[in-house]
Amino acid sequence: MQEKKRTIVVTSALPYANGDIHIGHLVEYLQTDFWVRFQRMRGNDCVYVCADDTHGTPIMIRARKEGRSPEDLVAEMRERHVRDFADFQVSFDNYYTTNSPENKAFCEDIYAKLDAAGALLREDVTQLWCPKCGMFLPDRFVKGTCPHCGKEEQYGDSCENCGATYSPSELKDAHCATCGSRDLESRATQHVLFDLAKFKEYLRGWLGDHTPPDVAKKLQEWFGEDQTLLPWDISRDAPYFGFGIPGLPGKYFYVWLDAPVGYLASLRNWAEANGRSFDALWQNPDVERYHFIGKDIVRFHCLFWPAMLHAAGYQGPTKVFVHGFLTVNGEKMSKSRGTFVNARTYLDHLDPAFLRYYYACKINSTTDDIDLNLDDFAQRVNSDLVGKIVNLASRGAQMLSKRLDGRLGRMDEEGRALLESARSRSEAIAALYEARKFSQVPVEVCRIADAANEYFDRHAPWKLVKENPESARPILTSTLNLFRVMAVYLAPILPVVAKKAAALFGEPDFTWESVMRSVEESPIGQYEYLATRVDPDAVQAMIEAGRPKDAEPSPSQTAASPAPASTGGGEPSSAPAKPQIQFPAFDAVDLRVGLVESCRAVEKSKKLVRFELDCGALGHRTIFSGIRSAYPDPSVLDGKQVVFVANLAPREMKGVGISEGMVLTGGDPATGLAVLTTLAPVRPGDPAC
Ligand code: MSP
Ligand code: ZN
Repeated sequence: MQEKKRTIVVTSALPYANGDIHIGHLVEYLQTDFWVRFQRMRGNDCVYVCADDTHGTPIMIRARKEGRSPEDLVAEMRERHVRDFADFQVSFDNYYTTNSPENKAFCEDIYAKLDAAGALLREDVTQLWCPKCGMFLPDRFVKGTCPHCGKEEQYGDSCENCGATYSPSELKDAHCATCGSRDLESRATQHVLFDLAKFKEYLRGWLGDHTPPDVAKKLQEWFGEDQTLLPWDISRDAPYFGFGIPGLPGKYFYVWLDAPVGYLASLRNWAEANGRSFDALWQNPDVERYHFIGKDIVRFHCLFWPAMLHAAGYQGPTKVFVHGFLTVNGEKMSKSRGTFVNARTYLDHLDPAFLRYYYACKINSTTDDIDLNLDDFAQRVNSDLVGKIVNLASRGAQMLSKRLDGRLGRMDEEGRALLESARSRSEAIAALYEARKFSQVPVEVCRIADAANEYFDRHAPWKLVKENPESARPILTSTLNLFRVMAVYLAPILPVVAKKAAALFGEPDFTWESVMRSVEESPIGQYEYLATRVDPDAVQAMIEAGRPKDAEPSPSQTAASPAPASTGGGEPSSAPAKPQIQFPAFDAVDLRVGLVESCRAVEKSKKLVRFELDCGALGHRTIFSGIRSAYPDPSVLDGKQVVFVANLAPREMKGVGISEGMVLTGGDPATGLAVLTTLAPVRPGDPAC
C-alpha cells in the first residue's frame, strides 16, 4: 500500500459550448473519471475540475441566428452538458464555465504579466471583412473555390478535395459563409501575438518531462521548421463573444487563450466554495496537476499553454495525458451512418455502465485511436460483464436469499484460497489504474471471474440447495466474496454496480482497502439488479435514432414496418375476437418485466420451454411456455427482457414442474409466435402495461 496521501488536481479538456456531448468526447471524460475515482478510492485528495468552453465566433453567430444572447445560449448548453455527464456518472468536483469573473481576472492577470515580460508583439494583419455581417471573418467563415484544384465551396484555410492549405484571400469567388455576401473587403487591423519562439529552449526541456514520449518527439522535431514556433495570434476584433483586452478597445482575447485559463478559473471557483486555497493547489510544488486531452489539441496544451504559464509565473501541469480518437466499426464517426451518437441518444437506449465497461476494455495510456465495434461491444459486455461477473452475484445472492435466509456463513477452504489469490492482485491492479492501462483491468478481473465460475459450476450450489441446503452456504459465501472483490476492482469503472454491491453486503462505499475485508456470518441485503445484457436491437435502435431524418433508411428499418395484428388463421381481422372488457378487468392482470436468466427446451416435451426469470423484487420465477416450435434454440432468449403475467395462479405442468406465471408472445399460433421483449432496458420486476 502506498504510504503518503497525494494531492492531485485533474482536468479534462473543456467541451465546446456549441454542440452536444457525443460518444467521442466520452473517450476522454470516462477515462479521466476512471482515474479520478481510482485516486479517491486510494484515499488521495483528488480534485477533478472542468467547464464549458463558451467563447468565440461560432457561438456568437449561432446566438445571433437564434435571436438570443450568447450568454443565454451557453447557459442552456451548459445545462445539457451537465446532465449528460451526470448520467454517465462522471464525477466532476466542479463543472464551471469559461464565461466567468474568475476566468476574466486570470486572463487579465496573465496578459499583464506576459506584457511585462516582453512576451507580446503587435502586428498588422490583413483579414477579410464582411460589411453585411459587420465582422472580420475567421478562416472557417469564408468559403470559395480552391485556388489549386478549382473545387467549389471550400473553407478559407484548406481544401477538402486536394488538401492544399492557403489563406482566405487566395480563394476565388470568396464569400461570407454566414450571409453569402461576395462584397468582402481586405482590411488591415492590429493584433496582439504571443512570441512563442522566445520559449523554445524552455519548451524543448519541458516537453520531455511532461508529455508522452511520442508527443514530445514529434513536437521537438518540428522545432527545426519555422512554422512551429511562429508568434501566436491571441487577439480578435469586435464583434466577438469573449473578454475584452484591457487597454485595447475593440480587441478581445482569442478563445484559445481563455479556454485553458478556464482550468485555473474552475479550480479557483471550487477552492473558494470549499474553503481551500487556489495557490495551495495550483502554485504548490507538492501538488500534482494533470490534464487529460485528445491528440487534436496537443499544440495548445503542450506548446502555447506551458510557455504562457511559465512566462506569467504560474506553475505548469505535472503531466499532459494524451489519448487518441474514437472510431466506430473501424471508421470515423459519421452522421449519415448513424455512428455520430450523442451521449443523450446513447442514454435513451443503453445503460451507461456498458459504455464505461467497454471503453475501459479499450483504453490504455497510448495516443492510439480506439475503436468501438458495435458487435464486439454487445458481445464483450454480455459475455464478460454480465455473463461472468454480474451473473455470479445475481445467482449467488438469490439462492442465498431464497433458500438460506439470506445469511452468509463461513467460506470453505477452496473458496478462501481463491479469494486470497484474487486479493493478491490488488497492488498489480492498482498499478494498472495508476499508469492508465485501463484495458488490462477487465482482463485481470475476468481471470478472477473465470476461476470463480469454474468453482461455482463445479460445486453446483443450485443442486445442493435442493438436496442439503446447508452444504450450499459455504459455496455461496465464497462466491459472493469473490464477486465482492471484483466489484471493488471495477469500482472506478462501474461506480453504480460497486455501490449496489456494497449495499448488498451492508457496507459503505468501497475503498481500495475493502478488498482485504471478508464478509462472513452476516446477512445480505435485498439483491438489486446490477446490469442486464446488451440487447443488439437496442444498439440498432440507437444507431437509427442518431441518423439524420432525411438519410436513407437502413434495411432493418424498412423491414421493421409493423405487420398488422392477427387473431389467428387466414386474413388479418380487424374485429376483436373476445368480448369487450372494462378497465378493472384489464387492471387485474399484473404484467411485469422479467429478465431471462435462461430459457431451455424441456427434455420430456416437444412443445415446452422453461424460462428461469429474474423478476427483481418479485424474486425468481420458473415459467413454462409452449413455444418450442418457434424457438428451436431457446437460449437465444437468454438475457432478453420479457413481459409476463405475474399474478396467474401457479399451474402444475404434467410431469415437468410448476409454472409460476405466463410469458407473453405475439403472432399467429398457427404460423409462428414470438416472445415480446422490451427494447430499452427496464428493471426486472417493474410493471408492464
Ligand atoms: N474546447 C476545446 C478544448 C479546450 S481545453 C482548454 C475542444 N473541445 S471539444 O469539445 O472539441 O473536445 C473536447 C475534448 O474531447 C478534446 O480533448 C477532444 O480531443 C476530445 N474529443 C472530441 N472528439 C473526440 C473523439 N471523436 N474521440 C476522442 N476524443 C475526442 O477541443
Ligand atoms: Zn457575412
